Amino acid sequence: MANIVQFDNVGLRYGTGAETLTDLSFSLAAGSFYFLTGASGAGKTSLLRLLYLAQRPSRGVIRLFGEDAVMMPRSRLPGFRRRIGVVFQDFRLVPHLSAADNIALPLRIAGMPEAEIAEPVGEMLAWVGLADRADARPATLSGGEQQRVAIARAVIARPEMLVADEPTGNVDPEMAERLLLLFDSLNRLGTTVVVATHDLHLMNRIPSAQMMRLDKGRLLDPTGMLRHPPARAQ
Ligand SMILES: Nc1ncnc2c1ncn2[C@@H]1O[C@H](COP(=O)(O)OP(=O)(O)OP(=O)(O)O)[C@@H](O)[C@H]1O
Ligand SMILES: [Mg+2]
Repeated sequence: MANIVQFDNVGLRYGTGAETLTDLSFSLAAGSFYFLTGASGAGKTSLLRLLYLAQRPSRGVIRLFGEDAVMMPRSRLPGFRRRIGVVFQDFRLVPHLSAADNIALPLRIAGMPEAEIAEPVGEMLAWVGLADRADARPATLSGGEQQRVAIARAVIARPEMLVADEPTGNVDPEMAERLLLLFDSLNRLGTTVVVATHDLHLMNRIPSAQMMRLDKGRLLDPTGMLRHPPARAQ
């Protein structure tokens, strides 16, 4: 299977301190499902930010969708980012838009005719349990509800890659499982999925997923031969 992402000796340094991410060399196979784990501060969000091109590395090579993402001219970045669905750790919903309009954003950006937007948005709202909050502004939603809007927005346009940062950190276990099912169905349709999480139970729900473990900015398996979660039932 082709690699959708390839990192070679990537390092990331914020300011002048020590490297936050060090010697990252790995590849992600198109269509696969990955969990990214590691203690708080290990560098998960930083690694995901490199993946969705919000951050350039201090050194090394990153290839994304078969192209050099580090040398890429700035003008091409938005086109690349549209191929990636992102669930941010802090949600980043558009404050003046309703839940429904936040979720509809990627479809509108992709140019879907207005008449065709309501149906998929309604389906997504129902799936994440927010059918009765379609018109609510983000500020009037709970943290878990905002997180569900963020997830619906990230998946609705069926991106080529989904990057989700602690996407179930604010919801109850039942909803977490439902959201994971959403990621799983997207993955079955061909989307490469990368989910940062601390939730071991959740990881074991996707037996085919591979695990990437970060420890103080280093991948514990630096050769890129990613292992399966420890409690995986074969
Ligand atoms: N913009 C930034 N400027 C300077 N340092 C940063 C910045 N972002 C993150 N860091 C530092 O980089 C390290 C890794 O942070 P990161 O947010 O990637 O960790 P994380 O694994 O996502 O943690 P958590 O589980 O708490 O979300 C931390 O020491 C953090 O303080
Ligand atoms: Mg983080």
